[in-house]
Amino acid sequence: MRIAHFSDSHISIQHPARLDDLRRAVDEVNASQPDLVIHTGDITHDAHVQEYQQAHAILESLHVPYFVIPGNRDQRAVLLPVFKKRLSTTGEYIQYTLEDFAVRILLLDTVSTASNKGQLCVERLAHAIAVLEQEDPRPLLVFMHHTPFDVMEIPDPFQFEDRAAVEKLTAAFGRCRNLRAIYCGHVHRNVQATIGHLPVSAITCMACDLRKGQLSEEDKTRPMYRILEW
Ligand SMILES: [Fe+2]
Repeated sequence: MRIAHFSDSHISIQHPARLDDLRRAVDEVNASQPDLVIHTGDITHDAHVQEYQQAHAILESLHVPYFVIPGNRDQRAVLLPVFKKRLSTTGEYIQYTLEDFAVRILLLDTVSTASNKGQLCVERLAHAIAVLEQEDPRPLLVFMHHTPFDVMEIPDPFQFEDRAAVEKLTAAFGRCRNLRAIYCGHVHRNVQATIGHLPVSAITCMACDLRKGQLSEEDKTRPMYRILEW
């Protein structure tokens, strides 16, 4: 099974070149035909409905199913009506599982309305832990916008509001025998780490002008996403 992981397209009325960054990635993915695409948030930069409509129009040209979760730049109330056919929600949150593939996938909503940092409220944490505790022999992957581990390359390494909530989540990660990996965005750079023995990583942003870290000249301008093989 092959999954294309997109993140941080930051579609912006002020920065129309980012439409092309997303469009070129969609064109490449359509040529390589993975089984599905997951976008881990910051779909838009300012959460204008027009930005969501532009992102949606490009993503709808994918030839394979795609799924999205929000990032801190997104607003659920604006995102949901535009992407409603592509989403299932848990209460007010855009947090759900994909059960119809060879690999199970848990998509977490880590957005806070109070800050740009990640949040795991009681409801979302309980849902995530319940999924992680389900007995199912298939491998499980988790996708989330914010990184639930310290990213030491940036000035403020911890990207959540509440470390205790993250520790509850990572403890549940540790108890889940079928969990294989955690995939994130948000930090606009490629990062690899581990939580215990579990591989955790973040990918850089699709928006070329917002990429951070050491990049080759080619990597500053080419479509950036990754193909995960499971
Ligand atoms: Fe973000």
